[in-house]
Amino acid sequence: MTFCEYKPGLEGIPATQSSISYVDGQKGILEYRGINIEELAKSSNFLETSYLLIWGGLPTKDELLDFEHEIRYHRRLKYRIRDMMKCFPESGHPMDALQACAAALGLFYSRRALDDPAYIRAAVVRLLAKIPTMVAAFQLMRKGNDPVQPCDDLDYSANFLYMLNEREPDELAAHIFDVCLTLHAEHTINASTFSAMVTASTLTDPYAVVASAVGTLAGPLHGGANEEVITMLEEIGSVENVRSYLDDCLQRKAKIMGFGHRVYKVKDPRAIILQDLAEQLFEKFGRDDYYDIAVELEHAVEERLGHKGIYPNVDFYSGLVYRKLGIPTDLFTPVFAIARVAGWLAHWKEQLAENRIFRPTQIYTGTRNASYIPIEQRQSTHDRAFLAALIAE
Ligand code: ACO
Repeated sequence: MTFCEYKPGLEGIPATQSSISYVDGQKGILEYRGINIEELAKSSNFLETSYLLIWGGLPTKDELLDFEHEIRYHRRLKYRIRDMMKCFPESGHPMDALQACAAALGLFYSRRALDDPAYIRAAVVRLLAKIPTMVAAFQLMRKGNDPVQPCDDLDYSANFLYMLNEREPDELAAHIFDVCLTLHAEHTINASTFSAMVTASTLTDPYAVVASAVGTLAGPLHGGANEEVITMLEEIGSVENVRSYLDDCLQRKAKIMGFGHRVYKVKDPRAIILQDLAEQLFEKFGRDDYYDIAVELEHAVEERLGHKGIYPNVDFYSGLVYRKLGIPTDLFTPVFAIARVAGWLAHWKEQLAENRIFRPTQIYTGTRNASYIPIEQRQSTHDRAFLAALIAE
């Protein structure tokens, strides 16, 4: 076997070949199927972009109409899924609720025919259609309200905001939300996509694939960072506090949320577009107090960490946009998941087309040939005070 250097986090190690998206982290370029993200944000919409990602090319007018129609038709949830949600604790995180509901879909659509194009199409349609309904339903139910049924007259993004806020959204707000979904739809082989691909490679069902990816996206180093950005801006509290907050973080070697990226060493192109969207919303609906803090923080981080290639990532400005759209902070990551389902499904399809189960190797660092010690002769390896505190918790 050839010797391979061990790289923590698999940094820089190709784990697959893919034709879905392309990133140039030095130049700040992101393309879906070869089309620049700026162009898609300007000229496309989320469902057309999803079609492009999943089926590999832009749809014709009729193909797009059919796709939109199918998705519109499948937006409703089975009442049993709603009943299941009613049993979730209100204090539970919506990402956990979403992961459970996505996995539960597999119970209702249990036929697994991965070589049948009709099965693939139905799974794609169902997941794209139902994930937003799940997110909105959980939000209303945890407030003690009945979920709002999808509105057939509204398109994908407007319908989500309608189900969430129980009223038809402003046109600009719905458009901006749709652009946000397009921006978050795909991003090469990041942690959640990798998770989806590993799960897909076992030939399990697509609902399990998406559920595993949702669980991975939830972490604060990945999709969960957009929530943490708002908490951080809240903590900073004023423009005057920005530099002392940053000094303190750097001294403690704490990460500044919404900054840094494994691939981008310049400002993330999606952060540039999101900042512009935030400004459009502020112009129409009033400025967000946190925006000035965010801009000052970006300048300060650039001065102190720009030489390390630490710049705003996609999560830095997205939270400010979502706040202005009336989306609660702990729904930011579920909203990210609504968009990223498109990318996960594209990678699921690509994985199936040339599947080999993922089974990397490891470098063993433990002991060998250890003897089995009878229980009465063993000494505890755990700190007893720590265990007692854990039990008391
Ligand atoms: N704040 C301060 N310093 C940072 C940050 C940050 N946000 N990110 C990286 N650095 C520094 C590290 O301290 C390290 O410095 P050193 O070389 O002096 O030790 C160097 O930059 C490299 O950092 P790593 O953590 O090794 O970079 P990695 O590629 O492993 O991590 C990650 C990338 C996880 C995104 C990291 O930048 C981070 O934790 N950022 C904050 C969380 C965040 O915003 N996540 C969202 C990412 S986008 C997404 O997932 C959708």
